[in-house]
Amino acid sequence: MKVLFVDGTIIGSKTGAVLDAVEKYMKETGNEYEIERMDFADYEHQFVDGRPLEQYNEDMQKLVQKFEKADAYIISTPIFQGSIPGVLKNAFDMLHPHAMRYKPVSIVANGGTHQHHLVVENQLKPILDYFRSLVTPNYVYTQYDHFDEDNRIIDEDVNNRLREMVRVFGKYGEMSKDLCKDTLDND
Ligand SMILES: Cc1cc2nc3c(=O)[nH]c(=O)nc-3n(C[C@H](O)[C@H](O)[C@H](O)COP(=O)(O)O)c2cc1C
Repeated sequence: MKVLFVDGTIIGSKTGAVLDAVEKYMKETGNEYEIERMDFADYEHQFVDGRPLEQYNEDMQKLVQKFEKADAYIISTPIFQGSIPGVLKNAFDMLHPHAMRYKPVSIVANGGTHQHHLVVENQLKPILDYFRSLVTPNYVYTQYDHFDEDNRIIDEDVNNRLREMVRVFGKYGEMSKDLCKDTLDND
């Protein structure tokens, strides 16, 4: 199963650090995951403006192809202004509505404070519901105190929740294999 790890920001490093931890726990499961990392900071982003895909730059075309080819996703987002970063929403706007359909997604999010964990529930999950992704009920929200100065996660509860999220993600992966992607409903 091809799992795309999306670091959905062009600034900051904790979102990447959480993905490193998720990768470690995924490898520990012994499941055959083909993990690919997509760090938005490595891409030259362009605003979605309705032009055909081939008129966007190479990076934007590559971004769309990687989303389409993946079987599942771990999406890592920071909280910016009580929401997700514009660059992540812009990436979603690039995708065909079927691109992530019936594919498992787990979310990890990092904010500067505890207060904004519901951004995942209220803002990111509805977008993934629109795509009809199989969003695991587990997501993990981290903030400043959960990390040491080298951005390693030092909070055991966070590590346990990441492990549990990975376990449930594996089950959703099995379910997605059997779920017919060609439905009568082509909306
Ligand atoms: C433009 C901007 C807006 C931010 N807004 C919020 C916010 O509304 N709530 C919050 O908890 N953290 C906010 N933060 C903190 C980021 O979520 C935090 O910097 C990010 O998760 C990455 O952490 P790192 O920079 O230490 O790697 C904001 C940061 C930036 C740069």
